[in-house]
Amino acid sequence: MSNFVNGFSKKNKLEKIDWIINNHFHNNKKAKDILLRYLNDDLSIQNLHDEFIENTISNFYLPFAVAPNFLINHKYYTLPMATEESSVVAAASKTAKFWASRGGFKTEILGVEKVGQIHFFYNGSFFKLQSFFKKITKNILKNLKPITSNMEKRGGGITSLKLVDMNDKIHNYYQIFVKLNTADSMGANFINSCLEKITDTFKFFIKEKKFLTENGEKIDFVMSILSNYTPNCLAKASVSCKVEDLEKSNDLKDRKFVENFINAVNISKVDTFRAVTHNKGIMNGVDSVVIATGNDFRSVEAGIHAYASRNGNYSGLTNAYIQDGSFHFDLTIPISIGTIGGLTKLHPLVNWAHNLLGNPNSNELMQIIAVAGLAQNFAALKSLVTTGIQKGHMKMHLLNILNQLGADQIQKKEAIEYFKTNSITQKNVREFINKK
Ligand code: MEV
Repeated sequence: MSNFVNGFSKKNKLEKIDWIINNHFHNNKKAKDILLRYLNDDLSIQNLHDEFIENTISNFYLPFAVAPNFLINHKYYTLPMATEESSVVAAASKTAKFWASRGGFKTEILGVEKVGQIHFFYNGSFFKLQSFFKKITKNILKNLKPITSNMEKRGGGITSLKLVDMNDKIHNYYQIFVKLNTADSMGANFINSCLEKITDTFKFFIKEKKFLTENGEKIDFVMSILSNYTPNCLAKASVSCKVEDLEKSNDLKDRKFVENFINAVNISKVDTFRAVTHNKGIMNGVDSVVIATGNDFRSVEAGIHAYASRNGNYSGLTNAYIQDGSFHFDLTIPISIGTIGGLTKLHPLVNWAHNLLGNPNSNELMQIIAVAGLAQNFAALKSLVTTGIQKGHMKMHLLNILNQLGADQIQKKEAIEYFKTNSITQKNVREFINKK
């Protein structure tokens, strides 16, 4: 209990750091130095970071990289990617180049619908509730105007408002299910503000009209919150080329390459253990771009994984098949992101990433993100069914191992040369360094 603290958030940054270092690090100077070294000397940036969240004591950096040569709908993009995983950017770049010479990626938006829910319990008659809800819907929408009018000007707003009977799941449970279009913003604040306003209006009319509770019935509002499951906010990315072309392209010149590639995709459709790893590879690409563009990767992750289970079984998100002598490979995923609001303009590097992409609108960014996911899955499966994943992975991981072992620049250069033709393991690298 000695580490219990009251009023921590009231301390200034240095006081917070000192408290942490005293109480958790036995006053260790090195531990304090690490925090201080990661602070930004440019105060305009540091102050921004300090105010993004509470109790900021340092910054947490991820490598920020770019992957060029992504030909998407006949336009070249250089993708910003923030990730710590060694081989992700290299795989993206290699795949981008590969498909650029085969017509590039094609993408489309299959929907932009966002969702919000108001969860409540009512122990009266459903028909009474339904007729009351119908009566007040106009007033609900009217009361929402101050919140929705701006969004409507940008092409968004509420697209539907429905009362849903959930009694088959929990006794007396109902929802107001709201569908929205949030234009170029991710829309979390907009959706939640709308939902809270709807709840307030609903409550007001219940009190005013006393119609729902006139016989002593009870109505209890539990919560009003957006849903991060957006199965109708979808982007699709695809590639295709002649089967022979793909067959020839694999590193092992393995004639069964395409067949095994398709087998690998099909395995992910029927086996959850494989499906999760398959989709994790897709998320390597998706998350890197989502993070670099300042979007909420937790909500994108949660939504995509739920979508992978939409048919009752968690399964792989890509499809691969042969049709009329051509190989087709595609990915459809829900991506709820924004290109305005949130961190997009506020965080200088995020803003830079948007500039790099040519300041896309949210539909365009959704498509770019879907491409990043498809490219990553292509790279992973291409390695897995030919050389195996470790060859490329360890090549990229070599520098991490060398850094861990404290190798200097000359040793690194020599090691990179040596391990071009020798197998990279922690043990082999250590022995190589020790011999030098
Ligand atoms: C590693 O981060 C991702 C892979 O495991 C994905 C896959 O197995 O498809 C290589």
